[in-house]
Amino acid sequence: MTQETWLLTGGAGYIGAHIADEFIRAGKSVVIYDSLYQGLEHRIQYLRTKHNIDIPLIKADIRDYNELEGVIRTYKIDGIVHTAALKAVGESMEKPDEYFEVNLTATNELIDIAKRNNVKKFIFSSTAAVYGSPDTMDPCCEDGPKAPISPYGDSKYQAEAKVTAFINTPGNHGTSLRFFNVVGTAAPELLDNSVENLVPIVLGKLNKGAAPEIFGTDYPTKDGTCIRDYVDVRDIARAHLAAADATQPLPPALNIGTGRGASVREVIDLVLAAINKTDTQVIESPRRSGDPAFLCADINLAKSAMGFTAQYSLEASVKSLF
Ligand code: UD1
Repeated sequence: MTQETWLLTGGAGYIGAHIADEFIRAGKSVVIYDSLYQGLEHRIQYLRTKHNIDIPLIKADIRDYNELEGVIRTYKIDGIVHTAALKAVGESMEKPDEYFEVNLTATNELIDIAKRNNVKKFIFSSTAAVYGSPDTMDPCCEDGPKAPISPYGDSKYQAEAKVTAFINTPGNHGTSLRFFNVVGTAAPELLDNSVENLVPIVLGKLNKGAAPEIFGTDYPTKDGTCIRDYVDVRDIARAHLAAADATQPLPPALNIGTGRGASVREVIDLVLAAINKTDTQVIESPRRSGDPAFLCADINLAKSAMGFTAQYSLEASVKSLF
């Protein structure tokens, strides 16, 4: 079989670079397309050295459709993993138009370009944010209620529809993968550089000598703090490989999580234990608006459709950061 060539949009990002690492390890050829707005070139340099191969990096905006089409033709792309996106939930409330342009319009255009150029495989990075803020304590099922509460979640949810239409075309293959809360790293060089999510925020505070902060301790959960499904980025990468290599047609969307919930307090305790600072004071603050008490993945569909289950424990994910 000839080697498949995959275009990874957003491939210099935290998640995209881990997918590149996994695809190269599995013998696929990858081409990275990234604006470097959030992506980091040194991640690709690290992968080039690690795997001792050339990895093309095209520095361009996902809205540069001429460039995108040129790249897909030049490299004779077989499949696309589309992770390029804007991803800050709070920012999406302030700049909804930009979020829809980058996350929805550009995804639609990319799929049209893919169709024109005979690309048959498409895997889309979606998010648990499509479920919004459920008021139940049940794991989210793919075909359950979708009610995004931010332009970020809404733009991803609407983009899924175009992906579904693409994969429903005979001969095409792919799915939308809905990531839950992503943590961990395969290497220090690939670390998450964002300042948006719980673990990076806590680490940032500890590095500055500040106290970690819990948003809300009066939720109806075991310790009063919010429960989330933290899934390792290496498992996210494995899920993409499983989707790329699946021989059966995939459902239009699949949750990628562990199926296990951890509370904010448990996460902070694991971080403090990893750095031997369990006596650090933790600030208890009021609830942050829009946070559901409980958000966990029902993982049965990913298991039955493509044999995927997450392997890393939260403890292992947190340890990987140090
Ligand atoms: C957020 C987004 C979600 C997005 C995900 C990944 C919201 C409502 N949800 O999920 O749409 O898919 O990021 O980008 O914004 N927390 C603290 N202290 C902190 C930071 C966070 O207690 O310093 C708590 C939060 O209140 C939350 C949990 O930690 O309960 C996880 O927060 P976060 O990492 O921001 O992710 P989510 O809010 O679950």
